[in-house]
Amino acid sequence: MFVGNMKRVNLGLIGLGFIGKVHIRNCLKIKSAKVVAAADVSKKALAYAKEFGVKQLFTDYRKLLKLKDVDAVIISLPTHLHADCTIEAAEERKHIFLEKPLARNPKEGEKIVSAVRKNGVKCMVGYPLRFVPEFANLKRKIESGVLGDIQIAHAVNIAAGPFFHRAESTIPRPVPDWWLNKDLTGGGALMDLGCHMINLLRWYLGEVSSIKTHLGFRFNFDFEDYATCIIDFECGASAILNVGWFSQNTALGVELFGTMSYAQAYHSPSSRVITAIKLILGKTPRFFIPYLEELSYFINYIKNDDIDENRLSGENALRDLGAIAKAYTNQIE
Ligand SMILES: NC(=O)c1ccc[n+]([C@@H]2O[C@H](COP(=O)([O-])OP(=O)(O)OC[C@H]3O[C@@H](n4cnc5c(N)ncnc54)[C@H](O)[C@@H]3O)[C@@H](O)[C@H]2O)c1
Repeated sequence: MFVGNMKRVNLGLIGLGFIGKVHIRNCLKIKSAKVVAAADVSKKALAYAKEFGVKQLFTDYRKLLKLKDVDAVIISLPTHLHADCTIEAAEERKHIFLEKPLARNPKEGEKIVSAVRKNGVKCMVGYPLRFVPEFANLKRKIESGVLGDIQIAHAVNIAAGPFFHRAESTIPRPVPDWWLNKDLTGGGALMDLGCHMINLLRWYLGEVSSIKTHLGFRFNFDFEDYATCIIDFECGASAILNVGWFSQNTALGVELFGTMSYAQAYHSPSSRVITAIKLILGKTPRFFIPYLEELSYFINYIKNDDIDENRLSGENALRDLGAIAKAYTNQIE
């Protein structure tokens, strides 16, 4: 584990699927960090890490966790493995960057939070929307008071979910089985996209006091592929949140209506062709820049004790899981 003034942070990357590959590419752009080890059950995934110069490769992530030269881990495993892997990483005294959602449900999330606390390691949950300049500007606008008191918010995150997002080029790839098993994911579009948006709305408006949801089943799975939530906040504001996995054209934004004015912010991907060209050239496509920013933030966070601890902590992400669990129990037909 890191102890003060470390020059370079040695990282272990666990899970090299869609988002793990985004992270390994982004790590190359952070001078003060290096991926020194990677773990994945897939040999093909490990071969990908090898191409990026990673020398210590494991099919069993526990072996990676035992390495003395690993200071921190990035965990981008399927959601059902977040709790076990994060708890084991904390027990091996590694700092942790964990992909969202924290876990499948609040009970698992609480176990993560208490293992992190008990072992005195730092844990940050990957919520890249807080690093989107347009969404950060919206936060500054709220804080400046120009909007007055926010009364109503609209938030939307419509995308293709697991049906497109594994395409790193223009060619779609098969969906990994776990993504379509709600016991392994903890939920559908509300869990996957809803946690991002609830976290963002909580950043703007504070804690949720009540939440109800209508779940939609366009694709006839046993989990929702779209959802509409009505959310009340302790500050007195209300929000409508729409999330869905049904469109190949991402719509991701927030509108805030206050007593003095209103404001909106959107985050859009570049076209697939531009994204593919940037990837071929080794550049970071616009949509993935916030993912680079969040990792840089994590590296700074573990190097400097003075950085804002609560911003994306496990405790914070646990509140998103709490709201989602309430939404699943308060359904509107
Ligand atoms: N922040 C974001 O916007 C974002 C985007 C996509 C995914 N995610 C999150 O990241 C996580 C992973 O999603 P994904 O789409 O990359 O999944 P994925 O299925 O593409 O990748 C998971 C990887 O883990 C590996 N794996 C599975 N079991 C393993 C084990 N026991 N030990 C080691 N490796 C194992 C698989 O071989 C695969 O390479 C999920 O929790 C998801 O919610 C976050």
